[in-house]
Amino acid sequence: MSFRLQPPAPARPNRCQLFGPASNTKLFEKMAASAADVINLDLEDSVAPSDKDIARKNAIEAINDIDWGKKTLSVRINGLDSPYWYKDVVDLMEQTNGRLDMIMIPKAGCGEDIYAVDALVSSIEAAKGSDKRIAFECIIESAAGISHVEDIAKASPRMEAISLGAADFAASMGMATTGIGGTQEAYYMLQDGQKYWSDPWHWATAKIVAACRTHGVLPVDGPFGDFSDDEGFRAQARRALTLGMVGKWAIHPKQIALSNEVFTPSAEAVQEAREILQAMEEAKARGEGATTYKGRLVDIASIKQAEVIVKSAEMIKNQ
Ligand code: COA
Ligand code: MG
Repeated sequence: MSFRLQPPAPARPNRCQLFGPASNTKLFEKMAASAADVINLDLEDSVAPSDKDIARKNAIEAINDIDWGKKTLSVRINGLDSPYWYKDVVDLMEQTNGRLDMIMIPKAGCGEDIYAVDALVSSIEAAKGSDKRIAFECIIESAAGISHVEDIAKASPRMEAISLGAADFAASMGMATTGIGGTQEAYYMLQDGQKYWSDPWHWATAKIVAACRTHGVLPVDGPFGDFSDDEGFRAQARRALTLGMVGKWAIHPKQIALSNEVFTPSAEAVQEAREILQAMEEAKARGEGATTYKGRLVDIASIKQAEVIVKSAEMIKNQ
């Protein structure tokens, strides 16, 4: 065990991040009224190049004028390979009134990408005399991004969350897929003529979770494109939850309740976790480090697992 303790990730709910193109102003009030924990106004790939300027202006007006309640408010800027991103950052920082919480950096490829945005944001915050520090989140959606994910996770103290962007990731990796996330028909094991589908996103998900947990950042699963497929969304979200992610994107309002359902610990799970903690308290009083709960071993590691569930439930309840 390293003597360095794992830093805690930000203690704020991040079960669902709802996206909407900033070119589509009629969505804003609906987004603000939704049950998503995080709102992402998009300036990047859901906005056509001809709409970039108007979308930026819309986003700034929406940040200043709409009541976003207690939601975490984020804007996805354009990528550092585009001619738009510097103006996205400068205008958002200079023309918003302090309500913006995060800037999302898409297609992060290396720690220096984060450093570049940090330098610009820090300079503008200093010039404004701003006492609020804008946080960052980014998307891992390229071969370079996944290769350098740990550098990215530790590139700035502003970094709060990292999402896996399955579609761009698949394209960059040269994966033979078309759907955005979820099951891929050609990715299966064959046993006695029976196909068993595997999870092509498993490695990238686990790698992002490890980098995030090492550096106190929230790992988040990105979009699931087929918003008519509730069970497919649930299955994808449950896999991400099992591997340590804290939430998922919604690209349609239908997906918000599904995401909240999966990433809110169930009453039964919380009850069981509390019982495990109680069983371990009793074991400790007897001078034992391990005991039996419902016919299975629980020990000191079980305390930590149970605490993840109890703390998550309490944080969501107290928001
Ligand atoms: N946020 C809030 N409300 C939304 C919404 C969103 N992202 N997307 C759709 N809605 C609303 C619609 O306005 C509509 O409202 P109404 O009942 O008051 O008319 C209702 O939800 C049903 O919408 P629906 O007709 O099923 O979808 P649509 O054809 O209007 O839009 C999309 C479909 C996919 C174009 C739209 O959901 C969207 O733009 N999603 C976000 C895409 C995005 O941000 N991508 C970038 C990240 S990958
Ligand atoms: Mg993308």
